[in-house]
Amino acid sequence: MKIEKADFNAIYDRPDPRDYYNGLGALDYAAPHHGQRVFRKVLDALDVDRPTIVDLCCSYGVNAALLKHDLTLENLYDRYGSDQIAGLATDELTDADRAFYADRRRADAPRVIGVDTAASAIEYALEVGLLDGGAVEDMERDKPSSELADAVGEADLITVTGGIGYITDQSIDRLLDCTSPERRPWFAALCLRTVSYEPVAESLARHGLVTEQLEEHTFPQRRFAGPEERDYAMRALAEQGLDPLGKESAGEYHVNVYLSRPGDEVAARPIQTILTDVA
Ligand SMILES: C[S@@+](CC[C@H](N)C(=O)[O-])C[C@H]1O[C@@H](n2cnc3c(N)ncnc32)[C@H](O)[C@@H]1O
Repeated sequence: MKIEKADFNAIYDRPDPRDYYNGLGALDYAAPHHGQRVFRKVLDALDVDRPTIVDLCCSYGVNAALLKHDLTLENLYDRYGSDQIAGLATDELTDADRAFYADRRRADAPRVIGVDTAASAIEYALEVGLLDGGAVEDMERDKPSSELADAVGEADLITVTGGIGYITDQSIDRLLDCTSPERRPWFAALCLRTVSYEPVAESLARHGLVTEQLEEHTFPQRRFAGPEERDYAMRALAEQGLDPLGKESAGEYHVNVYLSRPGDEVAARPIQTILTDVA
């Protein structure tokens, strides 16, 4: 039997996000929390009025919720795990969420376009106003639609948490082919240490973006679902010659932070100067 990373497909495409938050919250999934801190610093460095973000593998708009609102991931886990919310029908929750997010929207909220293969997740995120646009597309399989290509052509920043591995350099190639050399978006990713980022960085380089890794700091993504997943992770790390000591050996996946930009930006402001205080 092939042992792999735990399978969460059953909670990725439900009509509303309760099972997603409760399922991943039970394993202390924290990538969007770290993403919020990293991406806010990156947006500060970009310094664009009302920037447009394309968030890959966006699910129910988790990163959009944290970037556009005065909210923490902990707030979302509390909300979707509460008894009061558990009793609502999906359409009641959708109405309540629309008001909940509108009340907490920041004046400087970026535009967020989400991409995911999960149609129900995208539909919910659009309905409640988390996403400003959504694309249900699988770029591992197909080229982006003309609507998504147009959105990416206008993007200032592409983000991804919890997605590299599901998507590969194939998706990144197809996506960046829709951008022009005069207007390449920045690309910021949190990627599991068990997954090699090299092919993605090579795709970004082919499109004129230089990738830096935040050195000497990783963030915990979530606890292993069980001993089999732990064994799988240890094997994946060993294959890459990575030492799990003090990180995965303590029972959690860890992610690296990567930021890709045009070379002149990288030379002028290395990643460490942009992500001060994040580590
Ligand atoms: C672990 S979730 C991460 C969601 C969100 N970014 C977060 O950090 O909470 C992975 C997401 O990747 C999506 N996904 C899987 N394969 C995909 C593909 N080929 N293209 C786009 N999204 C995909 C799943 O539907 C799911 O929503």
